[in-house]
Amino acid sequence: MSPTSYKQVVYAERPEPTIIPNKTFNVKTASLPTSLKPNEILVRAHYLSLDAAMRSWLTAKRSYVAPVEIGDVMRGSTIGQIHAVGTAIDTNKFKKGDWVVSMSGWAEYAVLTEKLVERLDVPEGCSPLDFMSVLGITGLTAYFGLEEIGHVKPGETVVVSGAAGATGSMAGQIAKIKGGRVIGIAGGKEKCDFLVSELGFDAAVDYKSPTWRQQLRELTPKYIDVYFDNVGGEILDACLARAARDSRFVMCGGISQYNTATPKGPTNILNVISQRITIKGFIVFDFAKKYNAGRKDLAKWLVEGKLKRKEHIVKGGIEQAPAALVDLYAGGNTGKMLVEIAPMSDALPGSSKL
Ligand SMILES: NC(=O)c1ccc[n+]([C@@H]2O[C@H](COP(=O)([O-])OP(=O)(O)OC[C@H]3O[C@@H](n4cnc5c(N)ncnc54)[C@H](OP(=O)(O)O)[C@@H]3O)[C@@H](O)[C@H]2O)c1
Repeated sequence: MSPTSYKQVVYAERPEPTIIPNKTFNVKTASLPTSLKPNEILVRAHYLSLDAAMRSWLTAKRSYVAPVEIGDVMRGSTIGQIHAVGTAIDTNKFKKGDWVVSMSGWAEYAVLTEKLVERLDVPEGCSPLDFMSVLGITGLTAYFGLEEIGHVKPGETVVVSGAAGATGSMAGQIAKIKGGRVIGIAGGKEKCDFLVSELGFDAAVDYKSPTWRQQLRELTPKYIDVYFDNVGGEILDACLARAARDSRFVMCGGISQYNTATPKGPTNILNVISQRITIKGFIVFDFAKKYNAGRKDLAKWLVEGKLKRKEHIVKGGIEQAPAALVDLYAGGNTGKMLVEIAPMSDALPGSSKL
C-alpha cells in the first residue's frame, strides 16, 4: 500500500557558525498528494548527496545560488525513482519506475516539475549510483577544474587538498591520468595510505601531523605546478609558498573556512605576483553545456579502471542527514558521502536495480 505521509528535513535555525543537527534542522512529516497537477512528477528519493557547499547555502549572503530560507526543506540532490507522473508529462521522457537525479531536497518524496528532473542515461559498465559521484557534480567539478584551469602537463607536480574526499579523490586521479606527479593532502594516516595504495597517488601528506609543512616542502623540490584547492586556510597558504613560476591554482573550495565566523585569507598572497601564479575560482555549473563531453571521458576512465569510485554511505534514513553533514566537515568520510534514504530493496517491483 502507498504511504500517505513522508519525512522531510527543514532548515530551522541559522548556525552561528557551527551546525547543531537538532537545532539547525527539524524533521517534519508532510502529506503525500492524493493527485498530481498535469505537469508534475512524484519522485521517491533513495540516495541523498551530502556536499560541503551545503554550509554556504545556510548563510544569507551573496553567493552563486540563493540561500535556503528558514522553514524550507533543505536543498539537496538525490537519486530516486519516479512513482507517478501528471497527465501532461510525455511518458517517452519520464514514466513510473524510471531512475532520476533531481534536486528533490532532504525529503523522502518530492513533487517536481520536469525541469528539475534528469532521467539517468547510464553508460555501459557504469552504475546509476555513479551519478552521485564520478559521473555527477563531484566528478564533473574535478574534471572541469583541471581541464579548464589546471591544464596539467605530463611530469608536472600537482597538489590536491581535501584529497581523500569526494571531489579531491577524483581530482587527484584525473591529474594522474593527465600524467601529473600527484601529491594528496588529507587528514590522518589511514586516508593518506588509501590515496597512495588504492588510488595511485604518488605521495600523500597528513595535515594533522606536526611535520606536515616539512613533508610538503620535501615532496615538492621543484615546487607546485598545479594546486587543486578544496580547503583554503593554512594549507592554501603553505601551497602558495611552494608555488612554481607560472603555476595554476584551481580554486574549487575552502572547507576549512566554511564553519568560521570570519574566514581568513592567505598571507603568502604576494607570491602570486613574484611567481606569476594564475589563481582562478570556478563553479561547476559554469561548464553545464560541456557536461556530456566530460561525462563521456569520466565514464570511459571508470570502465577502464583508471578512475576508482569510493562511496561512504550513511544508513538509517533521511533523519540521519543533519548529523552526517556535521560529520562531513569533521572528515568522517573517505570518498563521496551519501545518505541512504530508502534501500534498493524498497524500489518499485520489476524496476531495474541501482
Ligand atoms: N567549485 C565548485 O563548483 C564545487 C563543486 C563541488 C564541491 N566543491 C568544493 O569541493 C570541496 C570538497 O567538497 P566535497 O563535497 O567533495 O566534500 P568532501 O571532500 O567529500 O568532504 C569534505 C572533506 O574536507 C576535509 N576537511 C574538513 N575540514 C577541513 C579542514 N579544516 N582542513 C582541511 N580539510 C578539511 C575532510 O577531510 P579530512 O579528513 O582530510 O580533513 C572532509 O572529508 C569543498 O570545498 C566544496 O565546496 C566546489
